[in-house]
Amino acid sequence: MNQLVINNVTMRFSGVVALSEVSLNVNQGEIFSLIGPNGSGKSTLFNCINGFNRPQEGSISYNDTDLVKSAPHNIIEAGISRTFQNIQNVPFMTVLDNVLLGAHNRIDTQFTLKRWFLPGNREKEEAMALKVMDFLGIVNYESKFMSGQPYGIQKLVEVARALISQPRLILMDEPAAGMNEQETFEIARIIREIREKLSITVLVVEHDMNLVMSISDRIGVLESGEIITIGKPEDVKNHPEVLKAYLGEGFDA
Ligand SMILES: Nc1ncnc2c1ncn2[C@@H]1O[C@H](COP(=O)(O)OP(=O)(O)OP(=O)(O)O)[C@@H](O)[C@H]1O
Ligand SMILES: [Mg+2]
Repeated sequence: MNQLVINNVTMRFSGVVALSEVSLNVNQGEIFSLIGPNGSGKSTLFNCINGFNRPQEGSISYNDTDLVKSAPHNIIEAGISRTFQNIQNVPFMTVLDNVLLGAHNRIDTQFTLKRWFLPGNREKEEAMALKVMDFLGIVNYESKFMSGQPYGIQKLVEVARALISQPRLILMDEPAAGMNEQETFEIARIIREIREKLSITVLVVEHDMNLVMSISDRIGVLESGEIITIGKPEDVKNHPEVLKAYLGEGFDA
């Protein structure tokens, strides 16, 4: 069974303790949301899972892979990909080429050159990119330049880039940030379809409480680098610390 196991992870940046003894598991097929105030350590936890940050203490494993000891491209090989809180698209490239950037990460650096000479590789990757873009409803943007595309499209290109490596687990850092109500509704549908149609486990960081409550099987709450509770949406939204942190932000409790 595919499972992400995070055990007692502590991550410090000189004086700042970004994560303190964080433990949580994400089960295969789950939509698990991570919530918490700004600076509580959500993105840092993603960075620890995908190998950008190395926690000083604790362990993170995905099935048989020790993620703390793995390089980011090996973590993609192990079946985990991610989107970023701040859009990482290249404006002067086409939408298709932006999506294809995610396929390049699958290739070990020593094979990069060989790969470009292997006939059919580009075609195979393009076919996969178009399939993923079709799934997300952005296939018509294929040859358009990234620059000037609406924000909602840019966010979906990020998702496409993460999906092209055919992950078993996707980490999505604030997929609905900056989106209007209609786009947020659409991203909720897409997240459910990623799980249901593509059988990909989803770990999502989000501030939009209505979105989180509507899509999640379980929710973990981070505050000042510590997990304060993990549970089903109905339990988490009635947790006293969560009510204290989010009351007045207008989510439909
Ligand atoms: N590379 C870094 N160097 C130093 N401090 C860092 C670094 N990355 C994160 N931090 C600090 O770690 C803490 C957690 O930051 P993080 O970005 O994980 O929060 P977050 O929960 O994702 O916040 P937000 O909701 O605003 O995105 C913050 O105090 C931040 O300043
Ligand atoms: Mg963040």
